[in-house]
Amino acid sequence: MFLSEQYQLIDFGQGRKLERFGEYLVDRPCPAAERQRRASAPLWTAVAGRYETQSDGRDGWTAPLRLPPTWTIRHGTFAFELRPTPFGHLGVFPEQAENWDWIAGRLRSQPAACKALNLFAYTGGATLAAAAAGAHVVHVDAARNVVAWARRNAALSGLGDAPIRWISEDARLFVRRELRRGARYDAVILDPPSYGHGPKGQAWKIEHHLEPLLADCRELLRGGLGLVLLTCHTPGFALDDLRQLLARTCVQERPGRIEAKVLNIQSSAGQSLPSGMVVRAGC
Ligand SMILES: C[S@@+](CC[C@H](N)C(=O)[O-])C[C@H]1O[C@@H](n2cnc3c(N)ncnc32)[C@H](O)[C@@H]1O
Repeated sequence: MFLSEQYQLIDFGQGRKLERFGEYLVDRPCPAAERQRRASAPLWTAVAGRYETQSDGRDGWTAPLRLPPTWTIRHGTFAFELRPTPFGHLGVFPEQAENWDWIAGRLRSQPAACKALNLFAYTGGATLAAAAAGAHVVHVDAARNVVAWARRNAALSGLGDAPIRWISEDARLFVRRELRRGARYDAVILDPPSYGHGPKGQAWKIEHHLEPLLADCRELLRGGLGLVLLTCHTPGFALDDLRQLLARTCVQERPGRIEAKVLNIQSSAGQSLPSGMVVRAGC
């Protein structure tokens, strides 16, 4: 998890979460935050940024926005450039930090350099973890500006010259091309959204496209270490569904050997906020 001076969940409730990223307090929507808030109202109002529905019905950052255009937080040696985006994102999903540590731990213990594929790779936390552990990484995301953002994070983290291929492409298309090329990987990491699209508008719908993509990933993993990590934030997916999905598609393991858990973020008051799920297996 991030050190508290870098990131902290302060409170959550009534569909919103109050977080501190570095020195900045931010109030954003959070469907999973169903209970009553615990912190005082003044703390919720003393924010530098609040993302909510505006009077014109559109979602946005409420003025005055006292967040800087960019700032940085760190997780170990990894540095993340943060910025308030039009979608309410900041550039990091804090609940992913334990997955980065898990990836780094497994790849670092390998005798030789591994090959890792990171799909829906966003700003690159998992890419940094794999690269810092000595792996050759292929980082794939559909959005060119997000790939550039990930590259900046790599440079900020002293990994600017690490063996990372930066690819702006549709995940399914890229995987199929790699299969035709006979490429093989030791690890595949996926953090798909519920909906998305490739650079040329290729639609991504997790309920339709995840299983066939995982089946293609099985071929990419053939003969390698077989490390797979899938995170999912889509409501309606049950943990055991994801475990079974991995077992019948790309993990050569009995379902029982696949680790499946809810990613919880602990608040400063010790309360747990469910923030997605992870299923992971291998080496
Ligand atoms: C924001 S991340 C995190 C998703 C997280 N699991 C969630 O549900 O909020 C998802 C990333 O997938 C990328 N993406 C969306 N559709 C894609 C596609 N078809 N191929 C590759 N990347 C895609 C987006 O650009 C984004 O950076």
